[in-house]
Amino acid sequence: MKFAFPAVLAATCAVPAVAEVFFKEQFNDDAWTTRWTESTKWKPKSEMGTWKHTAGQWYADESDKGIQTSEDARFYGISAKMDSTFTSGEKPLVIQYSVKHEQQLDCGGAYIKLLPGGDDFDTAKFGGETEYAVMFGPDICGSSNKRTHVILHYDKKSDNLLINREVSTETDDVTHLYTLIVNPDNTFQVLIDNKSVRKGSLDEEFDFLAEKEIKDPDASKPADWVDEAKMADPEDKKPDGWDDIPAEIPDPDAEKPDDWDDEDDGEWEPPMMDNPDYKGEWKPKMIDNPDYKGPWEHPMIPNPEYKYDDDMYKVCSKGCTHVGFELWQVKTGTLFDDIIVTDSVEEAEAFAQETFFKKKDGEKTMYDEHMASQEPEDAGDDDYMGDMGDMGDFDMGGMGDEF
Ligand SMILES: *[C@@H]1O[C@H](CO)[C@@H](O)[C@H](O)[C@H]1NC(C)=O
Repeated sequence: MKFAFPAVLAATCAVPAVAEVFFKEQFNDDAWTTRWTESTKWKPKSEMGTWKHTAGQWYADESDKGIQTSEDARFYGISAKMDSTFTSGEKPLVIQYSVKHEQQLDCGGAYIKLLPGGDDFDTAKFGGETEYAVMFGPDICGSSNKRTHVILHYDKKSDNLLINREVSTETDDVTHLYTLIVNPDNTFQVLIDNKSVRKGSLDEEFDFLAEKEIKDPDASKPADWVDEAKMADPEDKKPDGWDDIPAEIPDPDAEKPDDWDDEDDGEWEPPMMDNPDYKGEWKPKMIDNPDYKGPWEHPMIPNPEYKYDDDMYKVCSKGCTHVGFELWQVKTGTLFDDIIVTDSVEEAEAFAQETFFKKKDGEKTMYDEHMASQEPEDAGDDDYMGDMGDMGDFDMGGMGDEF
């Protein structure tokens, strides 16, 4: 036993896996524009909005800036090359960034994209049609359409798969931190402000795989299957004389008018009225059908096409090289900051500590003061917000929001 000790020690002290950071952006220097390129050939210039380098209206530290959308009803396209290429392998993929809607966003995207492309990546053309590996983050339009998108590229289907569950999003005016983790065991997790809002397995929450079961093609509904749950009670008999009761009878209160002339007017007949004794057509009482066994259900069999894929998580199988925003916003003022792409959840958490968690209380204090100072003269402003709120049904269809 004694001699085994060093070996055990060596095993427990195994070198921790080295975390790698592929991209980190805090937008805290003016040189950010050398790292980021605006999409100049995606949409006509007149439809493109400009990015402001600012801490926004409320912040913990004015010198800690982000980039903010600044012109209403515009497209926004911008991308940056990552420091190194992330290729899906044995490590998780972690994408994290912060989003602050200072404008009470009524309709617009605020998601980030992780992009393949390498040296061929066309920064000028980058937009809604550009191939991507991951689309992740808030997308809001109207009061009912508020979600955090999680869309993953799947090589084997050449398709982008939208999560088939609702993932909540934050819609208030302060900064929130969005984190997506995609694990090599084909699980994923979405966190907002470091709190889990969705976690699960890729095969259950995305349509990567064929259905596990299909309707048995050899089974069909038996010809004598009884579909009627109810039947006429064979014991129930039509009462004698039922059909002798007429629906209408001559009105017994009607009287022949005094000036009626049988010769000119013909024989007088009293007008007809509904017969109070008439109960309609006789129908037998309905009872439960003893032969009814419920609706026929098609028996299911295992789908021969179903095959589990260990590689679903490999959204960056060819290597992801860029991150970018390509957005449409009706009302602008969304500020992005503190982006990290890494293969380590701990690394992303540590970065969150240094950035989001360090700033959030200071920002909230300034926000509350700002709102308090706005209140007295706010009447006109409120109307404006109300009007913009009505644009909630603005249709984003065909706005380049391609899956
Ligand atoms: C984030 O969540 C993890 C796991 O729940 C926790 O260990 C960590 O302390 C949290 N970090 C912060 C900054 O709250």
